[in-house]
Amino acid sequence: MVKKKQALGWIEWLIGWMYVTYELLFQRTKTSHLQNPLELPSLNDLTCIVTGTTSGIGKEIARQLAEAGAHVVMAVRNRKTANELIDQWCSSWAGILLNVEVMELDLLSLDSVVGFANTWNARLEPLHVLINNAGIFSIGETQKFSKDGFEEHLQVNHLAPALLSVLLLPSLIKGSTSRIINVNSVGILRAQVRFRLESSSLSTTFVYHV
Ligand SMILES: NC(=O)c1ccc[n+]([C@@H]2O[C@H](COP(=O)([O-])OP(=O)(O)OC[C@H]3O[C@@H](n4cnc5c(N)ncnc54)[C@H](OP(=O)(O)O)[C@@H]3O)[C@@H](O)[C@H]2O)c1
Repeated sequence: MVKKKQALGWIEWLIGWMYVTYELLFQRTKTSHLQNPLELPSLNDLTCIVTGTTSGIGKEIARQLAEAGAHVVMAVRNRKTANELIDQWCSSWAGILLNVEVMELDLLSLDSVVGFANTWNARLEPLHVLINNAGIFSIGETQKFSKDGFEEHLQVNHLAPALLSVLLLPSLIKGSTSRIINVNSVGILRAQVRFRLESSSLSTTFVYHV
């Protein structure tokens, strides 16, 4: 019988929070030498797919790339929010149309990842930049599993972006020299997913770090 661990132990929880607190306190000082905002050159010739652009870091990445002239594909699960953002950005640019489009992608579904990549590759267009930004982060909550059978953090933050990157390689090769940029968290230093395999004659725990 495979018994799934329901939550982090208190030591894992504490160490996880120590990493997060350290980042929150020191990320500003560690990055104070960087120009902010960073002025981008004209990106008129680039096509960039950015995942998770409805909020946070991804939203800002998409806006700045679009304002620098790139063709930006917002790969999101919430198309309505993404379209509202595009309207906002265009109106703050006095009605100038930015080259942004929305495509549906739910990283909790590997079928969705395959569908997204197939749809994009079918265009036979070069892809210059893939930014795997979308991510989830919950701590102290009961583990949840996707319909594909993977722990949700493992799927959304690692497996699905890896699959997306591999499946988009034909388009990335067309856009060579292209780039894949992965946005992730120091949380990976402590993350664990444990499965305990139990039977009358066997008791084994598998732990893998993600
Ligand atoms: N903010 C930080 O301080 C920080 C620190 C370290 C690392 N990071 C990393 O930076 C990245 C962005 O973080 P953030 O703070 O900007 O996060 P955020 O504001 O919570 O945004 C996360 C984005 O990912 C999307 N997303 C979540 N689950 C998805 C799914 N199943 N399929 C497709 N999209 C999904 C969300 O879309 P919905 O609107 O549909 O939920 C949202 O657009 C993450 O990878 C995170 O691990 C952030």
